Amino acid sequence: MIVYLNGEFLPLSEARVPVLDRGFIFGDGVYEVIPVYAGRLFRLQEHLQRLENSLTSIKLHNPLSRQQWLERLETLVDRNNGGDQSIYLQVTRGPAKRNHNFPEPVVPTVFMMSEPASILPPSLGAKAITRTDTRWQRCDIKSIALLANVLLRQEAVEVGAAEAILIREGYAMEGAASNVFIVVDGVAITPPNSQFILPGITRDLIIEAMQAAQLPYREADIPEAQLRGSDEIWITSSTREIIPVITLDDKPVGAGQPGPVWSQVWHIYQDYKQKLRSNV
Ligand code: PDD
Repeated sequence: MIVYLNGEFLPLSEARVPVLDRGFIFGDGVYEVIPVYAGRLFRLQEHLQRLENSLTSIKLHNPLSRQQWLERLETLVDRNNGGDQSIYLQVTRGPAKRNHNFPEPVVPTVFMMSEPASILPPSLGAKAITRTDTRWQRCDIKSIALLANVLLRQEAVEVGAAEAILIREGYAMEGAASNVFIVVDGVAITPPNSQFILPGITRDLIIEAMQAAQLPYREADIPEAQLRGSDEIWITSSTREIIPVITLDDKPVGAGQPGPVWSQVWHIYQDYKQKLRSNV
């Protein structure tokens, strides 16, 4: 695997970051995960805009222009043989003597790698659990400091579930690494963007697609009781696309199988990908 580090393309085994990098010491950095289909970066402008927003939120100057990001990302995709991939990129506040306040000057670290795309077979559906949202109050920043998310996802995996759906003060927010949709009486509902959820690129695309197809949806808070009584639950992310949840805390969701609204939206999403693949 060829990775990108601070201006160079090199094999993963040769990439080195100083141990005093603030990403390692403090988790002081932000990241993006961008799917690639048939060698084409999916929703690239949206991902770069979210990266810009995350960097602004942590007061870190974007080290690269849009054009520079684009060139480096395209080279990385090519160097890893195109096709379907998932690009991980992160920007940290770089190496410096350990001290909480920002160093002067800041020399950011930019790292990018390609991982194999690993979309689960969707029609099987997945298990999910609920957990208290133990994260901080700025979940809109795509921070590399993910300890709460890591612990919550691990709890899910230990009981054979694909995701932990996080409840904050009585409302379902999102998953440990995904956004959440429910369906009630045929209407898809997802929480509005706020500082308590990540503005998911997949989430936004689903909303856009439902709007275009004139399928009913709402952006609204989801009380825990509504989550538990819903007809369908989906979790969405760049790496998992749209997964139907068929049991929540071991109780069936709706009929206990992937629902009809999920199926419609999933097909629209696949069509969208197909168009990208064939460059329409
Ligand atoms: N995570 N919410 C959280 C907390 C996430 O970590 C993610 C994605 C999402 C979905 O966002 P998007 O549709 O833009 O992927 C929502 C990535 C995939 C990860 O951490 O690997």
